[in-house]
Amino acid sequence: MKGVILAAGKGTRLFPVTYHIPKPLLPLANRLTLEYAFDRLREIDVRDICIVVGENEPQLKSALGDGARFGLRLSYVRQTHPQGLAHAVGFAKEFVGDEPFVLYLGDAIYSKGFQDHARRFLESGCANLNLVQWVEDPRRYGVANLDGERIVKLVEKPKHPESNWAMAGLYFFGPQIWDVLPDLQPSARGEYEITDTIQLLIDRGHTVLAGIYDGVWYDSGTLDSFLEVSRFLINNGRIIDPTARVKAEVGDAVVIGAGATVECTFIEDSVILPGARIKIEGEIQHCLLGGTVFSEDPLKDAILYEG
Ligand code: TTP
Repeated sequence: MKGVILAAGKGTRLFPVTYHIPKPLLPLANRLTLEYAFDRLREIDVRDICIVVGENEPQLKSALGDGARFGLRLSYVRQTHPQGLAHAVGFAKEFVGDEPFVLYLGDAIYSKGFQDHARRFLESGCANLNLVQWVEDPRRYGVANLDGERIVKLVEKPKHPESNWAMAGLYFFGPQIWDVLPDLQPSARGEYEITDTIQLLIDRGHTVLAGIYDGVWYDSGTLDSFLEVSRFLINNGRIIDPTARVKAEVGDAVVIGAGATVECTFIEDSVILPGARIKIEGEIQHCLLGGTVFSEDPLKDAILYEG
């Protein structure tokens, strides 16, 4: 089985940090975000991976190279403009060929592996298997109606969800996807949706299965979720790189990257990026900081990257 990782988005919700460092390369517990994807894919014996990149292509290529140092074979394709997940996956068609593949969103972090799901997908020979999870409020997810183990209907971010089964962002596909992609129409928000792609597979009589995921999953795309997943990965400890210089006391859940200089009196819930120079008198809370940040103003909830 091959792997496709979508990493072409702009990461606007983490601007301005993602102007400087693409979201898939942001450090989480001092590893690149994508390294967690690599771990999960290696576990299911997926070593040939295509990364769909965008304007971040040069940075991703120079940080990840051919993948040898991760025990993988990485290749890259460029999505012209980010027009949705189904649009992005189309660029990997030539790489995938007729093989089954697993589709992974570049900003997703999973606490447990997918070995059972991968095995079930391959043994069943179905067109598509998707991880789902029961959530209290599914309105911000793709929502699946299940009939036994099959998904019979999918709706993207419904206002009035018909079930609590949220799509968990990890998809296994057979080659049937390549027949339906050309017929896909953009959604109301103007994107080519992966949920519409799967709905087309269902409409055309293909078997689409649900795999219930019993781990924890996060996406790192907002400040809150980025800091939450960071806290999860450092296991409520803290990581201060030995080459960082920290002049004053810091809180518990901080991650301070290599070569960073931090002078503030107290930081909490914070990720300070490698090489950052931070000098802030007074309170900072809940921040993702990089570059050179000199500020006299208290920051309570901020993503800052200056200089
Ligand atoms: P999103 O988080 O939906 O988009 P984004 O990364 O651009 O972030 P923001 O909304 O803050 O601007 O995307 C989820 C993953 O899918 C992410 O890893 C980027 C990738 N992606 C693509 O590769 N191509 C696309 O067209 C889109 C929309 C996303």
